[in-house]
Amino acid sequence: MINTLLRVRSGGCNRLVRAAFVTGPGPADAIRWGDVPDPAPGADQVLVRTLAVAVDHVDTYVRSGSLDTSVTWPLVVGRDLVGEVRAAPEHSGLAAGDLVWTSSLGYENRPGATAELAVIETARCYRLPDGLDPVEAVATFHGATTALLGLRRCGIAPGEHLFVHGGGGGVGAMVVQVGLDAGARVTATARDDETLAWLRDLRDGVRVIEVVDSRERPQAGLAHDVDVHFDTTGRIAMSEALAALAHRGRVVVTARRDTDGVPLRALYLRDQSIVGFVLSRATCDELAWAAAQTNRLLAEGTRARAVRTMTMDQAARAHTMLEAGEVHGKLVLVPPRPTAADR
Ligand SMILES: NC(=O)c1ccc[n+]([C@@H]2O[C@H](COP(=O)([O-])OP(=O)(O)OC[C@H]3O[C@@H](n4cnc5c(N)ncnc54)[C@H](OP(=O)(O)O)[C@@H]3O)[C@@H](O)[C@H]2O)c1
Repeated sequence: MINTLLRVRSGGCNRLVRAAFVTGPGPADAIRWGDVPDPAPGADQVLVRTLAVAVDHVDTYVRSGSLDTSVTWPLVVGRDLVGEVRAAPEHSGLAAGDLVWTSSLGYENRPGATAELAVIETARCYRLPDGLDPVEAVATFHGATTALLGLRRCGIAPGEHLFVHGGGGGVGAMVVQVGLDAGARVTATARDDETLAWLRDLRDGVRVIEVVDSRERPQAGLAHDVDVHFDTTGRIAMSEALAALAHRGRVVVTARRDTDGVPLRALYLRDQSIVGFVLSRATCDELAWAAAQTNRLLAEGTRARAVRTMTMDQAARAHTMLEAGEVHGKLVLVPPRPTAADR
């Protein structure tokens, strides 16, 4: 365990900070909760007291070493957080006490989010709209950003038919809501009664959503005449996804899937495209655009489905549950008591 003093610049005192970290790539149970090296903010960074951290599949890929990104070990795990500003550079326009968020920690050599205190580059630090609950908000960021940038990449247009497989998942629930916001006709699938009911409740007078119980139909029959095909589960074979597409339709690929025999002749004769997207390669500007859209959507009522909280010292358990497929909704980690701020 590494014991290092954290210099909290806002307070001018020295104190320890606790975090969930790994010392090298490895399994979920290698995550430790303890003291980590000083995350003291640089000239263009904001120091925050962490209020809520999302747990996403990508966090497990970074931890295990399967994501192609630069990492400095020991690594504090976690990418997205909501925090309260402790200290910020003047040019950021932020002040102590402001609530902010980021979706950019824990990869490309940036320290991660699951720590009592964290630092965020000002360009990757966004204000949280007033009145939002940090836990509810942090649960949306990864999915919303993926949905916004993935759908922008394939150019979703009002009136187009968007198909979302796994409509209750972290990404799927956001693709559905972003698609509705974009004026798409949405078909979404789920495989349990609670999620089907949640999806049906998203319906309103203007926007159209058809909800399909995926237990009742074979994968190939889930949708047809689709303009944008977004399979968040990675379970629909590429040939089936392409067969469901309309003329000029696009398949968005964001998760591992079976490529089987992709019918290239049919693909070009029907003007179709396969669009790959990975959030970890999004630019700062793309992320800032997505953050502004996410803030608007949050203020208008967009939410994740079935948010459950655990404490940050349970990060190893959270990763284990996610990898075992035991999470149906979103997991969010909150600080255990007492925090560095309380001590
Ligand atoms: N390319 C990118 O930039 C990017 C960004 C974000 C995520 N991803 C990837 O996208 C995938 C989804 O992420 P997520 O955060 O949405 O995960 P998630 O919250 O775990 O959701 C997974 C979804 O898949 C459904 N599902 C799982 N197994 C299924 C099965 N056997 N049959 C039918 N549906 C099944 C789940 O349904 P239940 O709710 O019923 O379990 C849920 O709707 C992950 O592989 C993640 O790594 C990629």
